[in-house]
Amino acid sequence: MDLFEHGAVIITGAGKGIGRATALTAAQEGLAVAAWDRDSVALDELVSVIGAAGGTAKGFVVDVGDSSAVETALDASFAFGDCRYLVNNAGPLSRPTSPMTFEDGLVLAMGSVYQVTTGWLKRAGDDAESVVSLSSISGTTWAGGASDIYYPVAKSAIAAYMKEIAVRHRGRPRANAVAPGGTITARTQDHINTPGSLEQFARSPLGRPAEAQEIADVICFLLSPRASHVNGVVLPVDGGYAIT
Ligand SMILES: NC(=O)c1ccc[n+]([C@@H]2O[C@H](COP(=O)([O-])OP(=O)(O)OC[C@H]3O[C@@H](n4cnc5c(N)ncnc54)[C@H](O)[C@@H]3O)[C@@H](O)[C@H]2O)c1
Repeated sequence: MDLFEHGAVIITGAGKGIGRATALTAAQEGLAVAAWDRDSVALDELVSVIGAAGGTAKGFVVDVGDSSAVETALDASFAFGDCRYLVNNAGPLSRPTSPMTFEDGLVLAMGSVYQVTTGWLKRAGDDAESVVSLSSISGTTWAGGASDIYYPVAKSAIAAYMKEIAVRHRGRPRANAVAPGGTITARTQDHINTPGSLEQFARSPLGRPAEAQEIADVICFLLSPRASHVNGVVLPVDGGYAIT
């Protein structure tokens, strides 16, 4: 049986990595996918893979840091489908390739989640079922000191924001966060296989980083009615890394 009976999900940063795996899983589990990304090539590929498997998806080229583009994409996504689900996945790198001020990093990483979620809540109204946002263990249970400072601060704020929604909206929608540990994706592939990084993972209980699919499965569970009594949690998905 599918995880979802009906509806559509907006997934930001759906072109690659955790967002892409989440989009593929959500489509397999019965949702239409409004896939947002600034990378149009990655979106085209994703939409065609979902379509070939019998699912429904549409790509929306949008930078979540561009507030007017976000409003346009929200309108277009609600015209596409009954967007009762939201996954806030897109976010800047923990160590950006070009330097970003603390303020700019916070606005891009946290402000964009606030804007997308606020606009989604306004449009979905009482139909808003569930939102899941991507935090990180580096913003919740672990301080690694390896990221630009805005990154753990924003990821901690995203977790707090989900808890606030969970309480203030009284479960309509349910709001939860996922806090991944190191996960093999495009953003991490250059440093996750370095000797220092592998040595850190070897000391953790599972001894390895996550695959994107292992994060996507948890996101889709939290989004779905199977998690109907889970509200306001920040769920680490890190193989036990943060407790060691
Ligand atoms: N990979 C990890 O180890 C890890 C660990 C903890 C948390 N996270 C979080 O998970 C989320 C996804 O990470 P990932 O590793 O899959 O990333 P990724 O870099 O592999 O993929 C991110 C996708 O988002 C898109 N994107 C980036 N910025 C965007 C923007 N401003 N507007 C629209 N699209 C944008 C990119 O084009 C890309 O398709 C992020 O929020 C990240 O902070 C990742």
